[in-house]
Amino acid sequence: MQQTHIEIRGVHKTFRDGTNALQPIDLEINTGEVLVLLGPSGCGKSTLLRMIGGLEQPTGGSIRFHGEEVTHLPAEKRGIGFVFQQYALFPTMTVAQNIAFGMKLRKQSKQQQAQKVNEMLELMNLAELRDRKPSQLSGGQQQRVAVARALAIEPSVLLMDEPLTALDAKLKEHLRIELAQLFRKLKITTIYVTHDQVEAMAIADRIAVMNKGVVEQIGFAKDIYHRPKSPFVAQFVGQINQLKGKIIADGQGQVADFGLCRIPYEGTDGSFAEVEAFLRPEDITLGGNTGFPAVVQEVIFLGERFRVIVDAQGQRLMMDVPNDIVLNHGDQVHLQVQQNKLIYA
Ligand SMILES: Nc1ncnc2c1ncn2[C@@H]1O[C@H](COP(=O)(O)OP(=O)(O)O)[C@@H](O)[C@H]1O
Ligand SMILES: [Mg+2]
Repeated sequence: MQQTHIEIRGVHKTFRDGTNALQPIDLEINTGEVLVLLGPSGCGKSTLLRMIGGLEQPTGGSIRFHGEEVTHLPAEKRGIGFVFQQYALFPTMTVAQNIAFGMKLRKQSKQQQAQKVNEMLELMNLAELRDRKPSQLSGGQQQRVAVARALAIEPSVLLMDEPLTALDAKLKEHLRIELAQLFRKLKITTIYVTHDQVEAMAIADRIAVMNKGVVEQIGFAKDIYHRPKSPFVAQFVGQINQLKGKIIADGQGQVADFGLCRIPYEGTDGSFAEVEAFLRPEDITLGGNTGFPAVVQEVIFLGERFRVIVDAQGQRLMMDVPNDIVLNHGDQVHLQVQQNKLIYA
């Protein structure tokens, strides 16, 4: 049985200048889970995170930790570890001193501090760097110190706001795996903000996809990927083709005609209406000599496969092709569509 750790009820935010950053949000975060808030810049992720952390006051609504109201409790009384995009380490302090900072504020004993610092250095693979200053560290190392510092106070909740966004691609990928492992190991309730869907999928237990101040969908990564509930979610999470079709009468019933495929349609609206559906690139395959004719426009080598852009009688589509098949610009191909993978969002 999952235990609710953080319960958010009707929390909304309008800033003093009138900016309506968040519509009333309802959200539950389970004890020990990693919930990712995913959405484009400006959708309200940081505002929501800051209100959970007590760095921002909600305009209305309530926030509870383990059933207890914390909505107006100051940040330092909430038992929270923060990690932000900018590492925000103290430049004149060593790695070890940075990690000890929160414990010192809380007046923990020297011995307690020393023991925890060693534990954190070990946990984050920072032991050799303990006496360096932040300026002597790479971005990735600085961010590992920031994580160690946040964890050193043994927070009950970890809040992370785009912690990998400032890092270069290779480092980002490396640290993403490291963080995912750390989360599995520590099982600390974590809310992690990112605009990067690849990062979200790698790290999350569940993902809340946000858009314009609302949570459009919340669920496991694979459910959000395979069963997006809105056009926004379909297009924001992963790559996807948008298909425009027409509903036409076909003998007994109605069918949706997308050009490259026709499928029975059970909508209740009148005939000859327009219909929109989505299809992932991996759900379009080469059909040999049968299938819908198309012409290759672009071939992008992704290493493990090709991403191929085709023109299917005026529809521009993305599809995936195994990396041992040679295709060139202008080649004629035939497309097969996995019709059961068509998404109406
Ligand atoms: N202190 C503030 N005053 C006024 N508007 C703000 C303030 N902070 C954020 N906003 C606005 O609120 C909206 C949500 O911002 P934010 O939560 O930072 O989005 P995200 O983190 O998803 O990029 C944006 O329109 C932003 O400009
Ligand atoms: Mg933000």
